Amino acid sequence: MSDQVKKLLIITSGGDAPGMNAAIRAVLRTAFHYGIAVYGCQGGFQGLIDQDIFLMSQRDVANCIQRGGTILQTGRCEEFLQKSVRDKCRQHLEAWGIDGIVVLGGDGSFRGALLLEAEGGPKVVGIPCTIDNDIVGTEYTIGFDTACNTALQAIDKIRDTAFSLNRNFLVEVMGRASGFLAVDVGIAGGAEFILIPEVPVSTSDLIQRIQKRKRKKLASIIVVAEADNPGRSLNLAEEIKEASGIIYKVCILGHIQRGGEPTVKDRKIASLMGNFAVELLMKGISQKMVAIENDVLTPAPFPNTHVGTRKFEDADLLRINEVICDVM
Ligand code: F6P
Repeated sequence: MSDQVKKLLIITSGGDAPGMNAAIRAVLRTAFHYGIAVYGCQGGFQGLIDQDIFLMSQRDVANCIQRGGTILQTGRCEEFLQKSVRDKCRQHLEAWGIDGIVVLGGDGSFRGALLLEAEGGPKVVGIPCTIDNDIVGTEYTIGFDTACNTALQAIDKIRDTAFSLNRNFLVEVMGRASGFLAVDVGIAGGAEFILIPEVPVSTSDLIQRIQKRKRKKLASIIVVAEADNPGRSLNLAEEIKEASGIIYKVCILGHIQRGGEPTVKDRKIASLMGNFAVELLMKGISQKMVAIENDVLTPAPFPNTHVGTRKFEDADLLRINEVICDVM
């Protein structure tokens, strides 16, 4: 095939997510299997602007499947949204002979790469990576399971001290504008209430619900999604105290949720997605993201950035959780 990709560039972009390395490894190994040369772009799209690109060898991905973060490093590069900057990058890519790109990242990263291809650049396939699991068009994004487990471990530890001292805690988790992380972690961590941006609850409502519990607990945990407003649980704790006298300690889990060894699920899905991405390019398919639909890998259109991020919709899970947590 004449339009067969011969030189592939891997870029990791946006927030890092555990499992990215497993995906890089799978992309490289699959490409090598088919005789495609692989280049790494250091530091996200900024690396493309700076021509910080290198030919990768098998060794570059040895011993990385178990590591969090990304061996290629990443970044959020606003500059790449300028056409003049992309034009320069396209010229660099032509000079390098690169005719395919696999981008690991979120919707913002896909948008830049898509524009690059639309303007005559290399063929692009995306692999969805974010701990938020909020990319429209896929049921799963690499990193989510690891972040859930990291947050859960932290909650289990908080639970020890909460019980020992009869204390209440607000535990704030990441997730940008979506509540996926908070819901899974909250249910698995036995949180009495889970506050997510998709189901807003006023402070007075929350206090009423706390006070209406059948049995007053001496120690409890509420999981609070950051809801695009990191640190919001500090204000919430103040408001609850002022209005009701109930004291909540606050623990903001923060970036710890982004790091650490990827779980089995993230390593496996990342490996399969990496392989799938290269096979799509081999079939001449591009401008697609590797998605999961009904638990099956499938090529999906890049998300339309005007639509925004994917939202958590199964509000009934919150009700079920409250039933489970209402001790008689
Ligand atoms: O998108 C992943 C994420 O970790 C979000 O959950 C969080 O809101 C954001 O990135 C934090 O971004 P930064 O690392 O730039 O502070």
